[in-house]
Amino acid sequence: MTPGAFCALLNTMNVLIIYHSRTGRTRELANEIAEGAARADAAEAIVRSADEVTRDEFVAADAVIAGSPVYFGTMTAELKSVFDKFVGTRRKMEGKVGAAFATSGHHTGGKETTMMSIIQAFLIYGMIIVGDPLDTGGHYGIGFSGEMTDELRDQAVRFGERVARIAAAVASSRSQSAS
Ligand SMILES: Cc1cc2nc3c(=O)[nH]c(=O)nc-3n(C[C@H](O)[C@H](O)[C@H](O)COP(=O)(O)O)c2cc1C
Repeated sequence: MTPGAFCALLNTMNVLIIYHSRTGRTRELANEIAEGAARADAAEAIVRSADEVTRDEFVAADAVIAGSPVYFGTMTAELKSVFDKFVGTRRKMEGKVGAAFATSGHHTGGKETTMMSIIQAFLIYGMIIVGDPLDTGGHYGIGFSGEMTDELRDQAVRFGERVARIAAAVASSRSQSAS
C-alpha cells in the first residue's frame, strides 16, 4: 500500500520532508522539522533524502518541506533533481503546501537565496508557500550555519508544526471543494 493510501485510510495528513545532506547538518534540521510536523493533529511526517524519495511519496504528500545545504548560493543538484524528476506531477501537487529550509557554511552564505530557489520550484508546481512563524523570525523558512543549538532545534520544531497545521487546513478546504 502506498503512503498516500495508508494515510487516507486513517484519515491522516501526510507531511514529507525531503533533504540533501553530505555532512549531516541539513539532515539534522530535517529531523527536527519532522518532529514538529508530527505534533500537529493527525499528521504523519516522513523524512526522505533526495536520493531515496519516490514519486508516490511526493504525490501522496499534503505538504512538502524541502531543505538543502547552500551550494554556490542555491539548492544542490541532488535536491533540484527531485523537482526535475517529478515535473509530471505538477497538476497533482497544485494547491498543496510547500516550505523550505537551508544550511550554509558562512553565516551570510546564501541561505535565503537557497530557500528562495526551493520556493521558486514549489511555486512552479502550483503550491502554496508557508514561511517560518513570526516568533522564530518570520521570513522564508528555517536555516542555520555552524552548529545546531537548542534554540534552533526549538525553532525548527515550531516551523514544522506550523507548516503541518496550515497544510491540514488547506487539505481540508481542498477536500470540501472536491466533494
Ligand atoms: C560544493 C559546495 C558549495 C558550497 N557553497 C557554499 C556557499 O555558497 N555558501 C556557504 O555559506 N556555504 C557553502 N558550502 C557549505 C555548505 O553549505 C555547508 O557546509 C552546509 O551546512 C553543509 O550541509 P550538510 O552538512 O547537510 O551537507 C558549500 C559546500 C559545498 C560542498
